[in-house]
Amino acid sequence: MTRWHFWGEKEFSDIYENIYIRSDMEDWFNIVFEIAKEMNSQKSLNKQILDIGCGEGHTTKQILDRVEGNYTCDLLEPNENALASAEAFLTPENNIGQCFPRTLATFKSNKKYNVVFTSHTNYYWSLNQKDYDVQLKKLLELMNKGGKLMILTLPKESDHYRLMLRQIYPEFNYAEYIINFYKNLGLDVKVKKLKMRMYIGDILSTKSLFDLKIFYRFIHNTDSYPSDLESKAFLEKIKKYQKDNYLDFKDYLIIVSEKD
Ligand SMILES: C[S@@+](CC[C@H](N)C(=O)[O-])C[C@H]1O[C@@H](n2cnc3c(N)ncnc32)[C@H](O)[C@@H]1O
Repeated sequence: MTRWHFWGEKEFSDIYENIYIRSDMEDWFNIVFEIAKEMNSQKSLNKQILDIGCGEGHTTKQILDRVEGNYTCDLLEPNENALASAEAFLTPENNIGQCFPRTLATFKSNKKYNVVFTSHTNYYWSLNQKDYDVQLKKLLELMNKGGKLMILTLPKESDHYRLMLRQIYPEFNYAEYIINFYKNLGLDVKVKKLKMRMYIGDILSTKSLFDLKIFYRFIHNTDSYPSDLESKAFLEKIKKYQKDNYLDFKDYLIIVSEKD
């Protein structure tokens, strides 16, 4: 199993899986369908797609399996083991082109794409705003004329952010920052506001703290366990924002293109 290094201070696969166990499959597949629909509205005869930060390629496959017509999808992923897994996993049924073991910042390419896509990777591009903006501009350089940039990420109003006991992520990670950035460049920006519910009924139905503390670690991007006092404060936040045993992380699909 791949060990995930992309969270600053932690390296643990159990939490990463835990979040997917919590996620509502129907919500997630609605997101996948929307992404595939957007890719399909790109009328090129042989779509050139780039997936940035594809991980082990599970999301990539869910999407590519629903792309109509001819396409080639290049993969960019800094975790070499994950990239190798993605390539092996995707190649039998999907049309995979080149695989780049790079971060967005270190990626160099002259190729231009019809679709530049990335799902939940923007949190790892940069720690400072100036360099983050460089990455946002770089994505545009990878698009061909008439191409589309698609970024899936969380909005400020996501329960993921609302649960935090303290500010963990810089605000430039929020979907709203990205949307405004591209709007200010005079580009056409469309936003699909999608729901992504997470089941927390297990946490609410026990006095045991194990799952609560694991969830705390995920939300606060840390491998340190919270004290019982902090856990209690965290539980209160979960209770405040939950509806019928679900939180809604919400996903925004941001679609950027040149104005007609
Ligand atoms: C939360 S996972 C998302 C994986 C996949 N895109 C998905 O949605 O299922 C974040 C991914 O971003 C990758 N990543 C981390 N830093 C990156 C960077 N600077 N540029 C591109 N990808 C990065 C990680 O290795 C990891 O595969």
